[in-house]
Parts: sequence; structure tokens; C-alpha cells
Amino acid sequence: MPINVLGIETSCDETSAAVISDNKILSNIIANQEVHQKYGGVVPELASRAHQKNIIPVVERALIEANIDIKKLNAVAFTRGPGLLGSLLVGSSFAKSMSLSLDIPLIEVNHMQAHLLANFIENNNRNKPTFPFLGVNISGGHTQIILCKNYFEMEIIGETLDDSIGEAFDKCGKLLGLNYPAGSKIDRFAKNGDKKKFKFIIPKVSELDFSFSGLKTNFKRFIENNISKNKNFIEKEIENICASIQETIAKILLEKIIKGINITNTKTIVFGGGVSANSRIRKSCKKELKNCKLFFPKIEYTTDNAAMIALVGYLKYKEKNFTNYDVESRARYKI
Ligand code: KG4
Ligand code: ZN
Repeated sequence: MPINVLGIETSCDETSAAVISDNKILSNIIANQEVHQKYGGVVPELASRAHQKNIIPVVERALIEANIDIKKLNAVAFTRGPGLLGSLLVGSSFAKSMSLSLDIPLIEVNHMQAHLLANFIENNNRNKPTFPFLGVNISGGHTQIILCKNYFEMEIIGETLDDSIGEAFDKCGKLLGLNYPAGSKIDRFAKNGDKKKFKFIIPKVSELDFSFSGLKTNFKRFIENNISKNKNFIEKEIENICASIQETIAKILLEKIIKGINITNTKTIVFGGGVSANSRIRKSCKKELKNCKLFFPKIEYTTDNAAMIALVGYLKYKEKNFTNYDVESRARYKI
């Protein structure tokens, strides 16, 4: 009999539910919260309210699309953290109630582990990563280089000291007048741009750590200076600006990955998180790391989704790694 797990993800601004059967995804429903767009970032209170509104319809749709009887579920997995506390509470309370009413195990999942483990979702028999590997978690909330010894033994060996890589994309996008989240929009504009046209600073940070706040300030000054000379600067140069800032961010990341490979002597690199959807990052890593095995999640499993939560739920179910009902959500939750 297959193991069927319902996954629930509510850590930030996506309400998502997915059903996995062994490691095959049967459904993965994501309700995006457009309410944040005009604020240039996620407003926590609005996010919690939207989760409350969305959670039941999203779970219902996930079950319908999976074409599975609710009684066939073996467990409910949910994101315990890290994330926005109010948002996490909606998902965890819902998961607890569902597990209790169906009398099936509850399984807590670390969102950042799930981003990397999304690479283990069945994908047309594509090869899966083998341990140990170097994890590169690049999202809106985190920028981490992680030594992964097995599914649940992960050690952060580098991370950002200030902004995340996703924030670098989103904040630069905001300065260009692009709605939140801006990463994919920058990616699209950059496709027709000249990546060498404008130069930005490469922050000097020791070892495997990152810093993006200086780059953001540098970008802000660059935009202000140019607008003062030509008020149509952004309109005229948007493609070249996007290509150039994206190239700078990709370069900063690549440099750290190469350092990570040299320090750990690991040749398998596994990417996770929303920014791992970026086409330039994918291309430059494939070009520059030819002697390594690279794994990127399928695009739909890069940004926040419950499929990755269901997958971790399935892995933990096999180990009978269940969670007690008194578990608390954690805004900060180390891998
Ligand atoms: O993993 P995610 O959905 O949420 C967090 O856990 O934080 O990542 C969201 C981030 C946002 O900053 C968004 O701008 C960025 O991923 N993103 C991208 C792309 N698609 C999403 N950044 C660059 N290029 C993309 N194609
Ligand atoms: Zn995420």
C-alpha cells in the first residue's frame, strides 16, 4: 500500500496544500496572496488573515485534484518554521486539528530543509542527489550554504549577515518600480539585456558568508544618479539594468559556491528556494561548475509550495518520526 501524506505550507505569503503518494506528487495547490504587491513586501498581519481565508479551500482542492479519499491519508505534515509566526500558526493549528480528527500522525517539517529536499520528489526517474552534498538555499528569507550529511543532518557553513539574496532581487526591483516579488520580473527583463553594461560592487565578506545590503545601497545610488541626469533612465535601460544587477548577484553566489566546494571537497551541489528558479544563476553555475553534479528543483518546487513539505512528511513517516500535539511553531528554526 502506498503512503499518502497531506502537506501544508503557510510560512510566508503562499497558502499551499499538496498530497504525495510515496514520493510522487498527486496535487500541489498554491494560493498566492496578491494583497502584498502594493506594499513592496509581505505585510505579516495581512498574510495571516489571507491564510485563514484560504486554508480550507486550498486543502479541499488539493484532495480533489489528488482524487484521494480523505480516509486514505496516512499523515499530515506541516511547516513548523522558520517563517512569520502568525502565518505558521494558521497552518500548524489546521494540521493538528486534521491529524486529531482523522486519528493519523502529525509530522513537523523545517521549511529550509524542505526547500533542499524538494530535489528528491520523483521526477521522471531523473537521478536523485546522493549524500553528502553541498546545499545552496537561496530564497526570500534565507541565503545559506549547507553541508548535508543525510536527509536530516544538515550543518549551515555560510549564511547572509544582512539581507537575503531574494531581498536583493526584490529591493532592487522595487527601486525599478517592479511589484513584489520582483525576482522573476528581473529575470524576464534580463533576457534581452546586456549583462556587462553596468557595474556594481561585489561585497567583500569572509569565508562562506554573504552580505547584500551594500549592493542594494550601491544600486540605489546608481539609480538616483542616473535619474537626476535623465528622468527616463529606467524605462530606457530596464533590460540592461536587470541583466547587469542579476549578473552581479549570480557572480557573488557562484564565488561562494566555489569556495564551499573547495572547503568541503564536495562535488554534488543541490539548490533550493525561490531564487534557484533564476535562469542566469542556473546557466552560470552549469557553465562554471562542469566538474560537479548540479541539482535544481523543478521550477514549481522552487518557490514556496506544500509539495516539498509533503515529501519531507513522507520521508519522516517512513522513519516513524512523528510529532506531539504540544509542538510550537517557530519563527526562527535552525536547520
Ligand atoms: O522560497 P521563496 O518562495 O520564499 C522564501 O522562503 O523566502 O522565495 C521567494 C523569493 C523572492 O525573493 C522572489 O523574488 C525570488 O524568490 N524569486 C526569484 C525568481 N523567482 C522567485 N529570484 C530571482 N529569479 C527568479 N526567477
Ligand atoms: Zn521558502
